[in-house]
Amino acid sequence: MKNKLCVLGSINVDHVIRVPYFPKAGETLTGYDYQIAFGGKGANQAVAAARLGANVQFIGAIGQDQIGHTMCSAFAQDGIDITAIEEIPNQSTGLAMIQVADSGENSIVISAGANGDLSPELVEKHQAIIAQADMLLMQLESPIEAVTLAAKLAKQAKTKVVLNPAPAQPLSQSLLSLVDMITPNETEAEILTGVKVVDEQTAALAADKFHQVGIETVLITLGAKGVYVSEKGNGQIIAGFRVQAVDTTAAGDTFNGGLVTALLEGKTLSESIRFAHAAAAISVTRMGAQTAIPMRKEVEDFLAL
Ligand code: RIB
Ligand code: NA
Repeated sequence: MKNKLCVLGSINVDHVIRVPYFPKAGETLTGYDYQIAFGGKGANQAVAAARLGANVQFIGAIGQDQIGHTMCSAFAQDGIDITAIEEIPNQSTGLAMIQVADSGENSIVISAGANGDLSPELVEKHQAIIAQADMLLMQLESPIEAVTLAAKLAKQAKTKVVLNPAPAQPLSQSLLSLVDMITPNETEAEILTGVKVVDEQTAALAADKFHQVGIETVLITLGAKGVYVSEKGNGQIIAGFRVQAVDTTAAGDTFNGGLVTALLEGKTLSESIRFAHAAAAISVTRMGAQTAIPMRKEVEDFLAL
């Protein structure tokens, strides 16, 4: 099988409510359009990659509850291999409380639940999947020990390691040195490099810090401005598409899923970024995480316009 992607990451049920603005401490605010959606950065990225054409195997964990099983069935419907999703006894599936403001911006609080039990032992159990994949895509909603071990196993097996370092947290040099491609946003780039990214010049500085620890490809997402991409120190900004944002939840996840899918097909880095930009642009025009992620055909039609 070709274009084999292993995604290791989180699965959350998202409780989404629209708000006119984000409430202040102590304030009670009436929201609207409450809905339950399927999310989690890992799952969103896996779903994006699968809908966009990759062969995806997912390593993750759910709790002993109905919603976890319902989400797994949905992943299988999307064509994802779910055999390495573990059910953790006496635990609940991860959960996210999401407020989406009228501006399209969001604010998210997560409860790790079963995601917090994705241990190095479970990673070891599924190491063959990592070894047989062409690429391993991870985020930071899973225990760092598990992420680190998976990166080591991937490195040994010559599986490319792509890290989307979200949500933001400091990381050890030893983990970073195992990464082939990193895709932080501005905030994450600042936490990891100490460089405040505000423009192309500062993005280049931050990218150099990542190159110094051995990361070959750096993509710093700059929101509506697009991405700053640097390969071994050669950098440029690649602009995204302008669309009317309804809900930006999972736009980054859709971008990451699209990016790796295109790269696995042998597209160039800039072509892959364009493809990922298109997929993410479509996703922000719709509510929810996985509900918003487009199919490949939609992205191709968008790009053909
Ligand atoms: O990146 C978006 C995701 O972050 C949401 O689906 C939510 O579950 C949180 O993990
Ligand atoms: Na969306």
